[in-house]
Amino acid sequence: MTFSRRQILAGLGGVSLLALGGAGYWLRRSQSASHDYELIAAPLDIELVPGHQTPAWAYGGQAPGLELRARQGDWLRVRFINQLAEATTIHWHGIRLPLEMDGVPYLSQLPVLPGEYFDYVFRVPDAGSFWYHPHSASGEQLGRGLVGPLIVEERQPTGFRHERTLSLKSWHVDGQGAFTAFSVPREAARGGTPGVLSTVNGVHAPTVELPAGQVVRLRLLNLDNTLTYRLNLPGGEARIYALDGNPVTPRPLGKEYWLGPGMRIELGLRVPPAGQALSLRNGPLRLATLSSVASSEPAGDWPAALPANPVAEPDLASAETLRFNFEWAGAVSVGLEQGAAHSFWQINGQAWDIADKNCYERPIATLQRGRSYILELRNLSQYQHPIHLHGMTFKVLGSNRRRIAEPWFTDTYLLGRNETARVALVADNPGVWMFHCHVIDHMETGLMAAIEVV
Ligand code: C2O
Ligand code: CU
Ligand code: CU
Repeated sequence: MTFSRRQILAGLGGVSLLALGGAGYWLRRSQSASHDYELIAAPLDIELVPGHQTPAWAYGGQAPGLELRARQGDWLRVRFINQLAEATTIHWHGIRLPLEMDGVPYLSQLPVLPGEYFDYVFRVPDAGSFWYHPHSASGEQLGRGLVGPLIVEERQPTGFRHERTLSLKSWHVDGQGAFTAFSVPREAARGGTPGVLSTVNGVHAPTVELPAGQVVRLRLLNLDNTLTYRLNLPGGEARIYALDGNPVTPRPLGKEYWLGPGMRIELGLRVPPAGQALSLRNGPLRLATLSSVASSEPAGDWPAALPANPVAEPDLASAETLRFNFEWAGAVSVGLEQGAAHSFWQINGQAWDIADKNCYERPIATLQRGRSYILELRNLSQYQHPIHLHGMTFKVLGSNRRRIAEPWFTDTYLLGRNETARVALVADNPGVWMFHCHVIDHMETGLMAAIEVV
C-alpha cells in the first residue's frame, strides 16, 4: 500500500507557525480554500485540579479538543499539524469514510511525525455526534487529552433550537494534577485502569446553564479510556433521540443508560422552570449541574424523531453468520518477549499485539463487498467490552441478556459480561477495518482485530 498526503511542515512556505501569530496560533475555522480547519496537537498545561497544572496534550488549544463541525453530506477537510514530541494520527470514530482517511498508523497511513502535517479530507455521510482521537499509543495519547467531539449537523433544521455538547472524561491525575499511570497491568487484565477526576468539557462537576422551558439537545460523548458511565438525570424529563450517531424513535431516558467508552447518546431535555437545577449523574455521582436560567423564548415542544442516516439495511435472509468470542487470554503475560505488549485478551483465540505491525496482514475475517453479515458477539468474560468497528455501521438485532425492542444502528455496542449479542451489517466499505474493544487497556492488551472487506 502506498501512503499519501503526509507532509513535512517545514517544507511548506505558507503554513509556518510563526505566520499564524500569537493568539491566532490555535486556529479555528481556517481562511484557507484548501481546508476547513487547521488542527494542531500540542502539549498544553491545563488546570484540572484548582491551583495545579496538568501537562495535557491538546487539540486546537483545548483538552478535550476543539469541537469540529460539518454538515451531513459535505466534505470535511482538516489539516492536522503534529506539534507533539511523538508520532500520532487522527481516527474519526464512527465516520464511514475511505480507509486512507481512517487514521490507523501503518494500515491506512504512515504515522504523522513531530513537525509534520497530514490533510484529512473526506465526506461525512451521516448526521450525528462523533469524535476523533489518535490510534497509536492510545492509553497515553487519549489519556493526556487527545480526544475531541465531531458534530455532523443535519441538512435540514431538526426542531431543536438549542444544543450542548458534553464531553465526558475522567482523568488519571493525583491531587496535585500530576498524571498517574494510564495503564496498570493488573487493572488492564480486569475492567481497565480508571481515571479518578471526572470532568465534563474538561471541568470537574461544572454548572451548565440551559434556557428555561426549552427542549435542549444534549450530546453526551463518552471520550474516556475506561469508564462506562451509568447516566441518569433524576427528576429530569429527558428522551433519547440518538445513540452513537444514529437516530432512534424518541423514548424516555428511563432510570439509567450505560454509556461505554467511545459511545454517545443524544437526549432531548425539557429544561425545568428558571431557578431550578438538575443533576447529571454517573450512578450516584454528580457529573454536572444543569441549571435553568430565564429565557424570553416561547416554550419549546418535543421535536420529531431525527431523520435516519443513509445506512444500508442488512439482508438477514441471505446473511452469513460470523462468530466472535471475546475472552481472557490466560496468564500469558509471563515471559513477555522484548518489546511485546501484554496480552490479557483475545478475539477468537488471537491476541492483537500493538507492537507488531504485521498484525494488520492477518485479518480475523474476510467479508465480500456488498454482502450482508450477522456478527455474533460472545463475551466469555466477567467484564464488559464496548465493541467498536471502523468503516461501517452495524445494526443491533438481539441479545441473550437484554430486551431489544427496537434494533438500532451503531458503531459501538456495549457487550455486557457473559452476553451474546447479534448485530448485522452490509459489507459496503472496502478495506481493512479495526474491530476492537474501546476500553483502551483492553484494546492495547489483545482485544483488537482487523476485518477485511474485499
Ligand atoms: Cu474510537 Cu479504533 O476507535
Ligand atoms: Cu473508530
Ligand atoms: Cu474490553
